[in-house]
Amino acid sequence: MDLRRVIIFLAFAVIILPSCAPSKAHLQVGFYKHTCPSAESIVKKEVMKALKHNPGMAAGLVRLHFHDAFVRGADASVLIDSTSNNKAEKDAPPNYQSLRGFEIIDAAKARLEAKCKGKVSCADVLAFAARDSVRFSMKINYAVPSGRRDGRVSLASEAASNLPSPSYNLTQLTQSFKCKGFSQEEMIILSGAHTIGLSHCSSFIERLYNFNSTINQDPSLDPTYAKRLKKQCPCGSTNSNNLVPMDPYSPTKSDSNYYKLILSNRGLFTSDQTLISTPESKTQVLLNAYVPMYFKLKFIDAFVKMGKIGVLTGNEGEIRVNCRVIN
Ligand code: HEM
Ligand SMILES: *[C@@H]1O[C@H](CO)[C@@H](O)[C@H](O)[C@H]1NC(C)=O
Ligand SMILES: *[C@@H]1O[C@H](CO)[C@@H](O)[C@H](O)[C@H]1NC(C)=O
Repeated sequence: MDLRRVIIFLAFAVIILPSCAPSKAHLQVGFYKHTCPSAESIVKKEVMKALKHNPGMAAGLVRLHFHDAFVRGADASVLIDSTSNNKAEKDAPPNYQSLRGFEIIDAAKARLEAKCKGKVSCADVLAFAARDSVRFSMKINYAVPSGRRDGRVSLASEAASNLPSPSYNLTQLTQSFKCKGFSQEEMIILSGAHTIGLSHCSSFIERLYNFNSTINQDPSLDPTYAKRLKKQCPCGSTNSNNLVPMDPYSPTKSDSNYYKLILSNRGLFTSDQTLISTPESKTQVLLNAYVPMYFKLKFIDAFVKMGKIGVLTGNEGEIRVNCRVIN
């Protein structure tokens, strides 16, 4: 198959064909137009203030939105704190000590409560903050449909069972995203978020020292890159909390470099490297790597769709006063 022709065809398909993301939820762009007209600009101001201090937080907010949406839908359940009789999502293994950006959401929500009491949901604040973070790091803007309501349940057990693991192979990743209504193509597009942000050594260290019972180092990992990672993540549990950039060449900018890294066997997680394990998925990786506009447009579509998973609307749920506590 002539790859260039495939790329040109698909690039045109994106522009010409309308995207169809079916959703039962009634979210709408500009939902707060009458009830709190400054809602989105207040969130933006708080997010930009925080990103000025720490640009890396953009990655934290993008990941928060993902981990919220995949567990009980985009209902801000990830923001709820544990209590004496409930261990919440944020304290489950994939989230604990690695999710970040909660304080930024709190700051934005406090300003919203002062300005428009009880009107803007935490789930929408998070969706707006993730958008502002994507705009900051990818330099593209998009409108966020809003009108989400906040959930009243957050269970640690549901985080572990709904979020994909970095050790997943292509089949497992595809299945995990299929459960949430996404195609393999969309899964590959959403994985492109890994061009920004940091990872703890513990998320991939077995690829360096303990791959399986016969081999220590993952043979699908470029040996030169592995050597560099071993310096950043020395063997031994005391170093498992070290942080490394997922895309060492542009850690705070989202671009298609992520896909180029995978093509040169420098994907950080098994779940990244496995995206080129079949001819079909590899074609998608090539497309995203070499047609940046394709990636950007498709990423926005998939990210907006992600923000619609299982949302509560109308009179469902509540508008939390404090995003960490159920009313
Ligand atoms: C495809 C399956 C996915 C897996 C297995 C996965 C796994 C991970 C892991 C293990 C980390 C590092 C956590 C740490 O050690 O601190 C991470 C970071 C991150 N992930 Fe994913 N992820 C996936 C998909 C996504 C998606 C769909 C998005 C968003 C659209 C996303 C956005 C991020 C971001 C932005 C970071 C960096 C967070 C930070 O710097 O604080 N990931 N991911
Ligand atoms: C992916 O992992 C699952 C679970 O470990 C395994 O059953 C399956 O054979 C693997 N698929 C591939 C293509 O390696
Ligand atoms: C270890 O991984 C290598 C490379 O993927 C594979 O060929 C080998 O069969 C694996 N060994 C075991 C015991 O799983």
